Amino acid sequence: MLRTFSVIFLLATLGSVSGCYYDNSEQLYGTGGTCDSTSTWSADIQPLIQAQCVGCHQGASASGGLDLSSHASVQNSALNGSLLDRIQRGAGDPLAMPPSGRLSNCNVAKIRVWERGGALPN
Ligand code: HEC
Repeated sequence: MLRTFSVIFLLATLGSVSGCYYDNSEQLYGTGGTCDSTSTWSADIQPLIQAQCVGCHQGASASGGLDLSSHASVQNSALNGSLLDRIQRGAGDPLAMPPSGRLSNCNVAKIRVWERGGALPN
């Protein structure tokens, strides 16, 4: 009886520990659990820019005169350094992008890896 209880207690404890760990990695890396260092335009960067940036950075009235709706324009911003500069600024910096709050560390890392690989349309 006592042994059964301790097994249940142990399982419950392990469950909550892994629960915490999961919450943590989700906070650090965003949803999706793991953060691997590979990143491609089609799988990672394009969907991220589309979701986080294009709402303001598109068309004739694009914020800052910067349209991020095509690969060519995102590549240009990546290679001239302005994209990384803006997404790596601290919270509260008026130049930080997106203005609503910093991207997850994983997403910043993915953009950095993609930029270092030449910001290709891969
Ligand atoms: C809520 C609207 C909004 C969103 C979302 C947004 N931006 Fe901006 N962005 C602006 C505004 C407004 C400016 C112009 C003012 C300034 O330079 O900070 C700007 C300027 C910039 C500039 C500088 C442009 C230049 O040539 O000087 C870059 C680079 C940039 N944003 C990148 C991004 C990226 C990358 C994202 C997504 C991660 C993003 N922005 C999301 C509003 C937004």
